[in-house]
Amino acid sequence: VSGPEVAARLAAVFEPALRFDGNYARLAGPAADANQQQTNDVFSEKWGRYERSGEKEGLYEFQRQWYLKLYGFASEQALREHLAGCGVILDAGCGLGYKAAWFAELAPHALVIGMDYSDAAAQAARSYAHLPNLVFVQGDIARTGMRDGGVDYVSCDQVIMHTEDPERTFAELARITARPHGQFACYFYAKKALPRELLDEYFRAQCKTVTTEELWQMSEQLAELGRRLSALDVRIDAPDIPLLGIKGGTYDIQRFVYWNFLKCFWNEELGAETSVVTNFDWYSPSNARRFSEAEVRTLVRVNGMIDTFFHVEEACHSGRFAHA
Ligand SMILES: C[S@@+](CC[C@H](N)C(=O)[O-])C[C@H]1O[C@@H](n2cnc3c(N)ncnc32)[C@H](O)[C@@H]1O
Repeated sequence: VSGPEVAARLAAVFEPALRFDGNYARLAGPAADANQQQTNDVFSEKWGRYERSGEKEGLYEFQRQWYLKLYGFASEQALREHLAGCGVILDAGCGLGYKAAWFAELAPHALVIGMDYSDAAAQAARSYAHLPNLVFVQGDIARTGMRDGGVDYVSCDQVIMHTEDPERTFAELARITARPHGQFACYFYAKKALPRELLDEYFRAQCKTVTTEELWQMSEQLAELGRRLSALDVRIDAPDIPLLGIKGGTYDIQRFVYWNFLKCFWNEELGAETSVVTNFDWYSPSNARRFSEAEVRTLVRVNGMIDTFFHVEEACHSGRFAHA
């Protein structure tokens, strides 16, 4: 789709008349809630910096492959086939927009909308202006302004826990998912072992009072710690410590520290800059809820949905949900 057809389809999806400047529109101003606004500001900062990174294509490829696994698509072709049946696709919390662009390329017949509350929405619009079926909206995915059941495929990947009230956001994204065929793909951070949860929770409250410069410095220090622990190339056979949520087994020492005590991300292949940004992404937003699997399953159920695919790994729970 392109041109006038895009405009007509947008008018059919959105309740308010959005004023587009090319492929970009703004649906919401600054967030009323201080934590959401702080979260938007740090993501604007993160994406503003990462957009200039020479490592970003490597991360995008890694993310695309992970996406297929998280949501149960056997291959890119399987995702293409799923999207073939979708007229409207929403990338809810699209960041720099590379997944929205991926969907737009896989589904040229569909209208794809990327929405993000941070300034990344405008950056994404600049990066992908060449894709005629893709638009970006700067707005809150908890208040999409979209009509009931207006979207055939909602993708909310690595986002919902950063929204002010994830339950409310989930309900909103379920509301706009088409009935009965629509699907809503969503990812939740998993709860980790107790020592790590305590540190993360404590730091969440502190990060608001720390300068961005200090947060970048700490992110660099943690990447360096992760690098040094990885370089040791030591394995530990840890015992189970159930009361602290520490699962026994053989771990690389960096992974053991990472999952149980302190996120100190380091990945040689993705690169140093990406490792630093990943730590910044973790420690800087004040909104970053973690969920147990039971909490995710309850959320799906109370919204009258069922899972058509469910995936669990150390870092997260993810799935594809449809109206029951
Ligand atoms: C970890 S990033 C993930 C971005 C992208 N989905 C990806 O996988 O690369 C989280 C994104 O959620 C966005 N976000 C947080 N709260 C939001 C909200 N209430 N509405 C829209 N976007 C939001 C942030 O601005 C950020 O770009």
